Amino acid sequence: MAPLEVARVLARVRMLGVALGRVHFFPAIPSTQDEAIRLARGGAPEGTVVVAARQTQGRGRLGRRWFSPPGAGLYASVVLRPPVPAAQWPVLSVLAGVAVVEALQGLGVAGARLKWPNDALIEGRKVAGILVEAFPDAGFAVLGLGLNASFQGVDVPADLLATATDIESHLPADTDLHDAAAKVLLAVLHSYQRARTDLRLAPERAGRLLWTTGEVEVGGVRGRVAGLTPSGELWLVEEDGRAVAVSVGEVTDARGH
Ligand code: BTN
Repeated sequence: MAPLEVARVLARVRMLGVALGRVHFFPAIPSTQDEAIRLARGGAPEGTVVVAARQTQGRGRLGRRWFSPPGAGLYASVVLRPPVPAAQWPVLSVLAGVAVVEALQGLGVAGARLKWPNDALIEGRKVAGILVEAFPDAGFAVLGLGLNASFQGVDVPADLLATATDIESHLPADTDLHDAAAKVLLAVLHSYQRARTDLRLAPERAGRLLWTTGEVEVGGVRGRVAGLTPSGELWLVEEDGRAVAVSVGEVTDARGH
């Protein structure tokens, strides 16, 4: 299949009928995230979107890089101004991760799951990442979505290939890649629009999407995963039967994920 063209994805998003805010498109940019933060500081309204065909310094969580060559993925950042106390904002990233996984499942990718808090995996390999950066004092957050669309013909580093995948390899054969990428972005935008006034997720529904199951360790807490809280925390039941809600951290499980 041909590489992903961001303009076609955006056209599709518009056709599917979402009221996008102003879209700033860049053929190349260091990071859509940094540009969206810059625009938000300058007063850009909620819903402002920054999209790039490639990023030269794409950023992931925990200071990692996000592989962002042209044609391989969708790189987008959205300005959010949630009208609720900032203490509730941490759920934004889990909500977005849930939306990505639900969208992929809706597209027929049965193996899509959520690695808590916000990585979308397909059969254990990462296909999308969410980066939410919050600036409560300035009244905004920026939500970044990196979606691996097609690695075909792309020189993907070996270490990344071992742990990552693209949607193209898993979509039903007759699916249009641009339509699929648009639906994933739309799902994230819709999920925020639906939840923005209370910022709570439906824990039972979201819990069913979890890749993170069984015995895990998160930030020094070891326990069995028992689901999610409405604020997006992970419930762990420790060996002594005590239930602990963990709000941040990297998960390690027996599968080494
Ligand atoms: C992660 O899983 O570590 C989060 C990855 C987020 C990557 C996206 S791509 C668009 C936006 N711009 C960036 O520099 N990062 C985010």
